[in-house]
Amino acid sequence: MRIGVLTGGGDCQGLNAAIRAVVRRADQYGWEVYGFKNGWAGLLGEGSAEKMDAKSVSGILPLGGTILGTSRTNPRKKESDMQAVLGNFGRWQLDALIAIGGDDTLSVAFALFERGAKTVGIPKTMDNDVDCTDYTIGFNSAVSIVADALDKLHTTAAAHHRVIVCEVMGRDAGWVAAVGGLAGGADYIVVPEVPAHLDDIIEHLNHRQRRGKDASIIVVAEGAKIEGNVVSTRGFKVDAFGHPILGGIGERLAQAIEDRTEFEVRATVLGHIQRGGSPTVFDRVLATRCGVAAVDYVKDGRWGYMPALHGTAIEPVKIADAIAHNRTVDLELLEVAKVFY
Ligand code: F6P
Repeated sequence: MRIGVLTGGGDCQGLNAAIRAVVRRADQYGWEVYGFKNGWAGLLGEGSAEKMDAKSVSGILPLGGTILGTSRTNPRKKESDMQAVLGNFGRWQLDALIAIGGDDTLSVAFALFERGAKTVGIPKTMDNDVDCTDYTIGFNSAVSIVADALDKLHTTAAAHHRVIVCEVMGRDAGWVAAVGGLAGGADYIVVPEVPAHLDDIIEHLNHRQRRGKDASIIVVAEGAKIEGNVVSTRGFKVDAFGHPILGGIGERLAQAIEDRTEFEVRATVLGHIQRGGSPTVFDRVLATRCGVAAVDYVKDGRWGYMPALHGTAIEPVKIADAIAHNRTVDLELLEVAKVFY
């Protein structure tokens, strides 16, 4: 038995833990593993891969990034690329392929499965927006970084009696903002799923000031839309999967608040720091369990499935169901966060 493994889309913490788990479980079964380089790019052309064994994954459990490299290559844009990928299943004599990725990477794995390829997915993304799983690999590490950053922003904001706007990633979902903001004691959270207005944000800052709070931390998701002349930067450029490249709303919001109030305002953009460094314990365990489960799905012939976290259990779900809709933030989390505004 020979299986391929790849990581696609934006990197996140826990990818190496998942790769290690795939290789080690396959090794236990006496199977060969080939690691394909840089996402789907590694299955285009002649294909680019190297054989992996226990030695090649030794020591990578705590490492951020991915030893396989990644890219946002989208073979679905051209049928000839899809055929090239399918051709490489034959050229590399793959019995199965495990694709570790978010909704984009999983959508390619599913399209290949529809064309008869034996694929299994593993859901990862710091955005936590893949459906049918409670958490994706990388999310817990990202929100831990957000919480840590907010702890630091609170002390400097308090010292200077300032408002600090902290922009976080998460694409069109507010998970990173909501959970990171809740954990870091945000004084206001703006997510893409809930309409926001500059007037309400300013009113809230004034209300806090009347209560004697002259420092505030606002967490804003990069994909948020804010009415009241805070122009979003979304939509100017798109990636290979057609997603707008986001970023800039934090600076715009900070400027808008300063223009309309007496507050001194600063913006901090956490950016790719959220995706870097070592995975948390939660992500190491989730990635390890998912990697082992994915190889077991190959063993059982569960093509077109991915392991998902349901409560404390890892269970198989159809990739088709997981990519049908993006998972939006649980609004109850925001209600809880509001208690502390
Ligand atoms: O999907 C993960 C993510 O980090 C998003 O939160 C963000 O919008 C995007 O990737 C950034 O992409 P890139 O790494 O290509 O700049």
